[in-house]
Amino acid sequence: MDKIGTGEWKPRKFIEEAVRQIGRTVGAGEKVVCALSGGLDSTVVAFLLDLAIGERYVAIFVDHGMLRQGEPEEVASLFKKRLRGRLIHVDARERFLKALRGVTEPEEKRRIIGAEFIKLFKEKALSLGDISYLAQGTILSDVVESGAGPGGAAIKAHHNVGGLPEELGFKLIEPLRDLYKDQVRLVGKELELPEAILQRQPFPGPGLAVRIIGEVTAGKLAILRQADAIFREEIAAAGLGQRLWQYFAVLTGIRAVGIKERRRHYGDVVALRAVTSTDAMTAGWARLPGDLLEKVSQRITGEIPAVSRVVYDITSKPPGTIEWE
Ligand code: XMP
Repeated sequence: MDKIGTGEWKPRKFIEEAVRQIGRTVGAGEKVVCALSGGLDSTVVAFLLDLAIGERYVAIFVDHGMLRQGEPEEVASLFKKRLRGRLIHVDARERFLKALRGVTEPEEKRRIIGAEFIKLFKEKALSLGDISYLAQGTILSDVVESGAGPGGAAIKAHHNVGGLPEELGFKLIEPLRDLYKDQVRLVGKELELPEAILQRQPFPGPGLAVRIIGEVTAGKLAILRQADAIFREEIAAAGLGQRLWQYFAVLTGIRAVGIKERRRHYGDVVALRAVTSTDAMTAGWARLPGDLLEKVSQRITGEIPAVSRVVYDITSKPPGTIEWE
């Protein structure tokens, strides 16, 4: 496959080639299963499958409850509108919350979510019976960052690489394995995916669980989801989304005193994180306009009763990481 930078790589050509290859690989009577996360990579894979084998695939979307506001609905609605395969929507919110009860250590959260995800996906996939292939949205940086590729060093345990294939015994289809994120985006554009998916920020597999410092509970998830939605809304309204690599809210686990309705209020501290980057290996804290930060802070403290204070993270990577956990 042509690599970006040689001047020869074209999304249309890539799609044709990938579709041909999937069509050649999957025999006439065979079926494919894929995991849909709502992110760009797995969505592009589902679209490629759709073009290559029509309805002979099953997409499994596991809602682990750690997604941002509106995401589960968006996944389901896009699938229904544009794709022909079968979508299995697994509502596993309770199950993940239970598995995470009492857990505060970040890598332990990742491990539990990863293991639980694999267990659940495996159960569902195997219950379908006659599946031969697993299609995954693994891209080049996943391979490198998980330590699997040249020069890779695992700093955080990412669960989107490995694990599933060995567990399931299905043969693997990974059409995006040689692509950089930018290339996947160009492929997505060529496939006419909605702007919201094309411009979607990278989002960690364990989701909001690693943006809640300390134990994850339904109540904390609701607070974080609302704060995060406000921040995203205001960034979009200011037209800044495309200039940032990631921007999100963190529930810090710290409580602070503030004033609400003229009374002392002891509440949660929300941190806002926005970074610029080209590859997530290094990142700079984004110099967001003061007026924007002011508006976000006012909205979060005004609209979310539990929150007393909002702070802005001014740590670059290194020495910080992009996520707080
Ligand atoms: P850090 O926090 O290490 O993050 O600077 C680098 C990039 O990776 C994302 N990230 C993850 N992605 N599973 C994922 O799929 C994870 O466990 C995970 N942890 C961090 C992070 O959002 C950033 O884009």
